[in-house]
Amino acid sequence: MKVLVLGSGGREHAIAWRLKKSASVLQVYVAPGNPGCATVATCIKPHAGTPEGYLTLARQVGADLTVVGPEAPLVDGVVDAFQAENLPIFGPTKAAAQLEGSKIFAKRFMERAGIPTAGFVSTEDPKEAAQALERFRYPVVIKADGLAAGKGVVICASRQEALATIQRMFSGALVGAAGRRLVIEEFLTGEEVSYIGLCDGEHVVAMEPSQDHKTIFDGDQGPNTGGMGAYSDSRILSPEMRDVVQKSVMQRTVDQMAAEGVPFRGFLYAGLMMTAEGPKVLEFNVRLGDPETQALLHRLDCDFGQALAEAAAGRVREDMLRFSPDPSICVVLAAHGYPGTVRTGDPISGIAEAEAAGATVFHAGTRFNEQQQLVTAGGRVLGVTASGATLPRAIETAYAACMKINFDGRQMRTDIGRKGLKRW
Ligand code: AMP
Ligand code: GLY
Repeated sequence: MKVLVLGSGGREHAIAWRLKKSASVLQVYVAPGNPGCATVATCIKPHAGTPEGYLTLARQVGADLTVVGPEAPLVDGVVDAFQAENLPIFGPTKAAAQLEGSKIFAKRFMERAGIPTAGFVSTEDPKEAAQALERFRYPVVIKADGLAAGKGVVICASRQEALATIQRMFSGALVGAAGRRLVIEEFLTGEEVSYIGLCDGEHVVAMEPSQDHKTIFDGDQGPNTGGMGAYSDSRILSPEMRDVVQKSVMQRTVDQMAAEGVPFRGFLYAGLMMTAEGPKVLEFNVRLGDPETQALLHRLDCDFGQALAEAAAGRVREDMLRFSPDPSICVVLAAHGYPGTVRTGDPISGIAEAEAAGATVFHAGTRFNEQQQLVTAGGRVLGVTASGATLPRAIETAYAACMKINFDGRQMRTDIGRKGLKRW
């Protein structure tokens, strides 16, 4: 089978790397990919980053299956375009991708389906938004309705801060048009868990649980990023809690989407808060998480290509995914300035040494310069990923490998996976 992967980050490098190891997969293409992807796949530039551009590319390479990494092509309708031409693709349709594309859609959907989530108000009117604040305690959470590349959620400590955020959302100053409609919601406390399932429109098979680390600094301090590291460990959720999430969130979502005539096929990612009252959904994504994927696929112990092809054909089975029991961790090395204005072009050294130390290094923001030197080319640069017989061992291996890699301005959290140590 020839598989085409859409995207260019660490998640896509990990997907291509795992596909390359699949017996069912003969050749992997990534569009547009990155220098890391190029070590396991053929990278090709689509002539346009539109559904039609990707369709042309899939035909050109003779893809038997296309897998979509990021959310934007899904929200743009890439799956609908492929389905109209009978080309196999794994991902949700444009209508189903609204679960991620519109927070208001997602919140109203959860309300209809009885899926546990934070109490909320949605509005398109600044006055109404200000009035709605009366109904909440502080901190309060304000979310832009549309896609905002991780910048659309603001946790406000006071009424004053909330009013200023509402103003900046509606004016477009914060996230442009994505903020012209808002969700105001109750602040939840607990441990966050990323729970991702493979769905065929009717069934959902879960991957192992994982945890992201969203803020730039240790101890969950500082501004939010796309994710500074993740780990995956079966112990994150007890079997009983998995059962609760599987039934009251995942299956309920798939059932309700089907009942509403918008069957969900693709990766369904529930960002959960494990509250004292049980798991509640913070957000849905309609794709794999980045950097959760790097950790998850490091543990995957089955033919990924075959699982995706079967899911795309509507055949998800309970036993189609197998994971090694060994926990895994991905530590992100970020560029100078991230998550603010990023400096690029800093030469990177030590990747081979890091891999010799037992890690797999996934590329996110890298490129070759004119001198054929590997340099930084984005906010998140590399994902240093390792597994171990225990979580402490996995952490130790990953960090020892990180120490081999250098570039000017390198930023790294030193506490990825630490929350999981209490379970060992
Ligand atoms: P999201 O992009 O919706 O995942 O939000 C980004 C981050 O904001 C989440 O990972 C949480 O850490 C935090 N967050 C979002 N909603 C809430 C909430 N209702 N209560 C507390 N934290 C939240
Ligand atoms: N790691 C969070 C996300 O992919 O949205």
